[in-house]
Amino acid sequence: MPSNQNIGFFVTGTDTEVGKTIVSGALLLLLQKKYSQVIGYKPVVAGVTIIDGQLQNEDLVTLTRASNHPAAKDITNICPYVLEVPSAPHLVADKNQIELDYTKMLNGFRNLEKQTDAIIVEGVGGFRVPFHQNKDSADFAKDIGLPVILVVGMRLGCINHALLTIESVLNRGLILAGWVANTIGPMNLIDENIQSLRQLIKAPLLGTIPHLNPELASTPYTLKALETVANYIHLPE
Ligand SMILES: Nc1ncnc2c1ncn2[C@@H]1O[C@H](COP(=O)(O)OP(=O)(O)OP(=O)(O)O)[C@@H](O)[C@H]1O
Ligand SMILES: [Mg+2]
Repeated sequence: MPSNQNIGFFVTGTDTEVGKTIVSGALLLLLQKKYSQVIGYKPVVAGVTIIDGQLQNEDLVTLTRASNHPAAKDITNICPYVLEVPSAPHLVADKNQIELDYTKMLNGFRNLEKQTDAIIVEGVGGFRVPFHQNKDSADFAKDIGLPVILVVGMRLGCINHALLTIESVLNRGLILAGWVANTIGPMNLIDENIQSLRQLIKAPLLGTIPHLNPELASTPYTLKALETVANYIHLPE
């Protein structure tokens, strides 16, 4: 891949809490090996905790750590809406009388896309999470048009969730660039499940992430954790 060409991926998941952030961070590190201006973006986050003495969102701290473009140091550049309560973003925004301005979310992405040569956009929750203005996160994926990477959280039910998500991605004319199997917990017949998914998904498996020890799995993710995960996955060809 030539380094003067823009590249980017939209990372979605079979559900919330399946490993989109850890995969996004690892992909950013892999991109840093080829590109000098790499950044993460997320259109909205919900939930803050005290990190390094400040109220921050864990996903954004991870995305900042894994980015090498200076714009990532200012959180407002990598996410226009940081909501405090961890719940469905449109509902938290309603409670706080905040309007999630869809154009602002798109413009935040476009600004970064112009300044950088590689971008990873982490989706919100699963593929279709409501925003305001009759938009949802799938509209956002479609409007930015990046190839999609699906993180499958390996647990009972994930085949159904993966297939429904992929149907929804493809129905919007988006490209599925690949998928990642993330071992979020113990699962019966996990190898067979991954094998079935390989047969059913017409996009490459980019890697299988093992269950991580609590130190590596703790959030916000350290660079060491993201480097570990980067060893298990690869960028789409
Ligand atoms: N391979 C793994 N091994 C152990 N724990 C994991 C693994 N992947 C993710 N987790 C744990 O699962 C939780 C969710 O991971 P992560 O935050 O990356 O998911 P997400 O899809 O980005 O969630 P959200 O929808 O909140 O953005 C975290 O607490 C993390 O520690
Ligand atoms: Mg996340």
